[in-house]
Amino acid sequence: MRNIVLIGFMGTGKSTVGRRLAQALAWNFVDTDAEIGEVTELSVSEIFRRYGETRFRSEEKIVVARLSQEDELVIATGGGTVLNSSNWGVLAENGVIVSLYASLDVILNRIGHKNDRPLLRSTHDEIERLFLERQPFYEKADFTIDTTFRTIEEVVGEILAHLGRMAIHEFTRKN
Ligand code: S3P
Repeated sequence: MRNIVLIGFMGTGKSTVGRRLAQALAWNFVDTDAEIGEVTELSVSEIFRRYGETRFRSEEKIVVARLSQEDELVIATGGGTVLNSSNWGVLAENGVIVSLYASLDVILNRIGHKNDRPLLRSTHDEIERLFLERQPFYEKADFTIDTTFRTIEEVVGEILAHLGRMAIHEFTRKN
């Protein structure tokens, strides 16, 4: 296991959980959106506004390819990152993919009022369509944690328990 990659829809807690998980493991934490921000010196909203989503996705792909080559990173991806099969491929090849889920109502309660996600500046129906359309991608993860009624600490604890079971399974399979 080289990296732990958190995937899931916007507002499922990837960055918050990722940061705590990294602390628990004494690994480094990176957020692909923040990395894109560093490289381009622009916020995600600004990239979308000035250059459009296509440019954002190409910056995202470069960042993902670079981060995948590292070790012992907890990587929080953007909600759309793993829709790209090349991103999925490099992330899955070099890490365990953990999906975070929350119901759309809870997501909108958590982040609906914020103004920093261009894809949420849409009608409820459009957001729901995006949410449903993406679930099959998130479901391909090694495992999924439903964060809807859980605290951050509980989610981190569950991830660690899953990873522990995976490690034991891997060990017994090899020996
Ligand atoms: C996106 C999610 C955002 C960010 C960008 C696009 C998406 O990240 O990458 O606004 O396509 O779902 P978060 O999931 O961290 O909000």
